[in-house]
Amino acid sequence: MAPVKVGFYGHVRQYHNLKNEIDATIHEVLESGSYVMGPKLKQFEKELAAYCHAQEAVGVNSGTDALWLVFMTLGIGPGDEVITTSNTFFATAEAVWIAGATAVFIDCDPKTRNLDVNLLEAAITPKTKAIVPVHLYGQPAEMRAVAEIARKHKLFVIEDNAQALGARGPDFALGELSDAMCTSFIIQKNLGCFGDGGAVVTNRSDIAEGVRKLRNHGSLQRSYHSMGYNSRLDDLHAAVLSVKLKHLDKWNDLRRGFAKQYDEGLKGTSLKLLYALPGYRHIYHVYVVETAGRDSLQKYLQERDITALTHYPVAIHQQEGFPWGKGARISGSLRHSEASAARVLSLPMFPELTREEVQTVIDNIVAWDKAHAGKFKAAS
Ligand SMILES: Cc1ncc(COP(=O)(O)O)c(C=O)c1O
Repeated sequence: MAPVKVGFYGHVRQYHNLKNEIDATIHEVLESGSYVMGPKLKQFEKELAAYCHAQEAVGVNSGTDALWLVFMTLGIGPGDEVITTSNTFFATAEAVWIAGATAVFIDCDPKTRNLDVNLLEAAITPKTKAIVPVHLYGQPAEMRAVAEIARKHKLFVIEDNAQALGARGPDFALGELSDAMCTSFIIQKNLGCFGDGGAVVTNRSDIAEGVRKLRNHGSLQRSYHSMGYNSRLDDLHAAVLSVKLKHLDKWNDLRRGFAKQYDEGLKGTSLKLLYALPGYRHIYHVYVVETAGRDSLQKYLQERDITALTHYPVAIHQQEGFPWGKGARISGSLRHSEASAARVLSLPMFPELTREEVQTVIDNIVAWDKAHAGKFKAAS
């Protein structure tokens, strides 16, 4: 097989495809002199709210800030518990810790690797204030079940939607069944700016106002403050995001097409392919396979100029310093999260890929599988 380099991200290709529009909007912002809390931010917030069918969107500096600023707005802090999944990016838990509350980890579902809703109720205590479902890898969590449990126990729901903007459930939109939804625009996300960025999307005007205040030194009116923070989405990023948002559905469709190609090309191998819930619009922020031979496969691909990464190779509760004072605790066993950490591998997945590049990845995996997979016990 002739080596073809296949990278993991398509940022630069994406920039080249939209160069005229992006350069023009950046130029416009630079000439306007309005760089912070200006018209481009307001415009993007309106467009994002409309895209999510929500009343309000508030731009902030990162997905992490979006989460903890919502926690602060809702009064979640020391002595409170927030239930989330142990199979997520570290920032989900970190945001709970920043707010001073305790993250309570439940295990993931072994088929989807999303939070296992069947474990939620057992994790609820009198200290529980909120549930944070994560729409991991681009697939919505089972929000109907989460919302029903939250309603029964009078808990807030804050969606961590850093990875699934544009995804939806069979009969629900993301953001519809929660108090607020938080997203990230760091460049590697499906909708990425040229640096850090995030937003809170909500139908609750009190949350939108609280976050607007907190993100800007506790101020809604010039010179009048209460305690807050500095976490604003710059106008340059907002302007770029406005250009890109128009393409998001098309890009997500392309991702879904490449996922189908991977599914078909890899189904005869020993790899475990993750389960896509029927009727859900999974938008494949990453395309994840599992194998006990993960390290061997990753190295094999790397030697052939194909970059595959791991999301996430160390489960949160296995990270250094756990439980970070009273920052976290475990509910039940986290064996599926631990198994996932040892086996997951994310294949190249971005809208600017070509079908030939995806086929190259598939062909190399099939070759590795024939030569090496027998050495590793079958993936569970
Ligand atoms: C699931 C999840 N939550 C939170 C975050 C935090 O977002 P940010 O990096 O913008 O702070 C990320 C991404 O980085 C993420 O993937």
